[in-house]
Amino acid sequence: MRIASVADFREAARRRLPRFLFDYIDGGSYGEVTLRRSVEDLAGIALRQRVLRDVSTLDLTTEILGQKLAMPVALGPVGLSGMYARRGEVQAARAAQAAGLQFTLSTVGCCSLAEVSTGTEKPIWFQLYVTKDRGFMRDMLAQAADLGCPVLFFTVDLPVPGARYRDVHSGLKAGPGLPGRTRRFLQALGKPGWAWDVGLRGRPHGLGNIAPLLGKQAGMLDFLAWSGRNFDASLTWKDIESIRAHWPGKFVIKGILDPDDAREAAAAGADGIVVSNHGGRQLDGVLSSARALPAIADAVGDRLTVLADGGVRSGLDVARMLALGAKGVLLGRAWAYALGAHGGAGVAKLLEIIEAELRVAMALTGVTTIPEIDGSVLARTG
Ligand code: FNR
Repeated sequence: MRIASVADFREAARRRLPRFLFDYIDGGSYGEVTLRRSVEDLAGIALRQRVLRDVSTLDLTTEILGQKLAMPVALGPVGLSGMYARRGEVQAARAAQAAGLQFTLSTVGCCSLAEVSTGTEKPIWFQLYVTKDRGFMRDMLAQAADLGCPVLFFTVDLPVPGARYRDVHSGLKAGPGLPGRTRRFLQALGKPGWAWDVGLRGRPHGLGNIAPLLGKQAGMLDFLAWSGRNFDASLTWKDIESIRAHWPGKFVIKGILDPDDAREAAAAGADGIVVSNHGGRQLDGVLSSARALPAIADAVGDRLTVLADGGVRSGLDVARMLALGAKGVLLGRAWAYALGAHGGAGVAKLLEIIEAELRVAMALTGVTTIPEIDGSVLARTG
């Protein structure tokens, strides 16, 4: 299949990955209302078409959280990526850095922070979950600081996990009928390309950062169970202040959807926030980031670096998020589909596509630099 868009990568990933993995990436929580809204609301944002403004030279570069980026885009944290392609986090991080961008490693990645850091030229960004095991958190913070990670994303929208029906249906989570392990094995047999490349040659499949706690024999379900047990629902803004005090780099709170929480984040000493509903995987029915973003950017945009994610499926969507008030955009499923479809080469191709689409969006809205993409490029109707 010839790939021209994120939708093509999605289809290619669906063909290559066992169902339990494709559905883990593709799905959202409950009725997937927020997931659908995220894509539709963003796609529904109309931009102003402007003409005859000399757009022969475009500058897509930007600086976000002290980092120079080739465009205002980074790969956001996506758990289990090492299951989508062999040592997937390393492949994706290399592709991002080769494109002059950044990669954010999830706490629950298959490759550890040390493995990805060793495999990349520059220090990567890291995402940490709030865990009950504060010793684990302290160790991860110290490791990330030692490895020179300049930016920490602290994800706060998962004090409890939202239910994802697809994970039960696919056998990723426990459910009735054949045991999950058997169902996943049978699904893998139907995808020989993946089974050979990742299933056999991509081991270990555990969660690299957590493996030291659980031992070598731990299987994927042990890791998922650990995550389920260890997310801390008792956390408050006070804890954030003290964690912030222990982190030397830039500190970004991921999972803000309300202007009041954005103000709290500023008061707690954050350098930035990610406007996010976790890809529609948590509280179903909440606003899309596209809808929540303008009020949040108005509330804290002068004090914090406001990033956003959710439903970004093209370079045009990147322009839309910037127009709504974001300084930069995190890709989620877009890069996970690309990695699942064609490994690191897929991620490299995806980033080329996003860049080309962003260029066209800029040229046709009549802007030549990233800071010019603001509310003035939004079409006002009615
Ligand atoms: C995620 N997301 C996520 N976020 C995070 O902070 N830590 C994580 O480990 C994960 N894991 C994860 C796995 C998968 C499969 C998905 C799809 C998402 C959320 C992610 O960073 C981002 O917020 C959303 O993916 C953005 O929405 P879109 O672009 O995927 O629609």
